[in-house]
Amino acid sequence: MNFPAIIADKKFGRALTGEQIEAFVRGAADKTVPDYQLSALLMAIRLNGMDARETADLTLAMARSGDMLHPDVGGIPVDKHSTGGVGDTTTLVLVPLCAACGAKIAKMSGRGLGHTGGTVDKMESIGMRTSLPEADFLRQVREIGCAVVGQSAELAPADKTLYALRDTTATVDSLPLIASSIMSKKLASGAQGIVLDVKVGSGAIMPDYAGSLALAKTMVDIGTRAGRNVSALLTGMDEPLGSHVGNMLEVKDAVEILRGESAGPLLTVSLALGAQLLTVGGVAANPEEGEAMLRRALADGGGLEKLRQLIRAQGGDESVCDHPEALADAPIVRDVAAPRAGVIARMDTTLLGYAAQELGAGRRQKTDQIDPRVGFIMRCRVGDNLSAGAPICTVYAANEETFAGAQQMILRAVEIGDAPTPPSRLIYAMVTPQGVTEY
Ligand code: URA
Repeated sequence: MNFPAIIADKKFGRALTGEQIEAFVRGAADKTVPDYQLSALLMAIRLNGMDARETADLTLAMARSGDMLHPDVGGIPVDKHSTGGVGDTTTLVLVPLCAACGAKIAKMSGRGLGHTGGTVDKMESIGMRTSLPEADFLRQVREIGCAVVGQSAELAPADKTLYALRDTTATVDSLPLIASSIMSKKLASGAQGIVLDVKVGSGAIMPDYAGSLALAKTMVDIGTRAGRNVSALLTGMDEPLGSHVGNMLEVKDAVEILRGESAGPLLTVSLALGAQLLTVGGVAANPEEGEAMLRRALADGGGLEKLRQLIRAQGGDESVCDHPEALADAPIVRDVAAPRAGVIARMDTTLLGYAAQELGAGRRQKTDQIDPRVGFIMRCRVGDNLSAGAPICTVYAANEETFAGAQQMILRAVEIGDAPTPPSRLIYAMVTPQGVTEY
């Protein structure tokens, strides 16, 4: 098939045929189409969109670009996936908690994408293996109730290629590309219960509520048509969800929550998503019962013990469960101070994500190496009162140059005003096949 002609069709806003979409996906999976042509088509899709039929065709073609699993994990295999956020490490909180309650979580996670962080990078920052042979992955889920891996070469390989290209070609924020990326992996991995965390706000891939709602509905619809039990929560990303941003730092944040030493929005959203996961997995009768079970697993240390088992099973350093403070260590540790007194009026969370990338916590090019140590810990939230010179955040940097670059971005990202400002919203709505419930 003539690839420039496919690019041209989408450039002029025409709907692609099923055959054209197959050629695109096959070319990405077996790498017979060069990156520059794939990238050109990605940009044309980003600019001109896809209709519902094209998006469904793209998702199914991507799912079928590799193995389609029917996993035997001794229960209903469930998975959760986020559209991506900043300081958003719900996976490391809710996977151990849900597994401690009896769920079977066969989780496929991603690396950082654009300004957002990725669970795989966080796990690797403490030495965990994120690539397991399929049989070992399933055995681990049967034995300890959870396993979290990156994308394998066998599952949805087309997404693996396209994900890395989107990360570095400014083509992340596209409804059909996000929906097909997420749902192709969930369909291929055989998850029967799927919970989607669709972010809304200044750090979300789709910042406005309408776009996020449309994305959630599209993904719930694709999953339901494929016979899966799917629900989505729309959750806030108008500031980093947890206070810690960066790879080792976010592991620290998750461990401290599971140790009962901290709480806040990261725990609130993790419990809400976890309660949905227990429900679609048939472990809880409804989200209320699910949340009560999760709170018990938090209080009795079951979640922390499960995290320890997960880290051990995947070859990581389980001592972080006893000494999370050891994860906050970099050559430069320095506060960024508020330039004036006032109220935190707004945060440009995307810019905060790029500040973390500037420090080395994310990639600017496909081949960049992540620095696991770097990032920052926020010392304030939207609505807080700050005096002049009070710390906005503490930065963990590898050198003076990256510290200075990140400091400049953080000062631009955090807006200080005078009017009282309410805290950011955390949970906006739930989307199920039955409809939308707004909160
Ligand atoms: N997560 C994914 O796996 N893909 C996207 O496109 C966005 C978030």
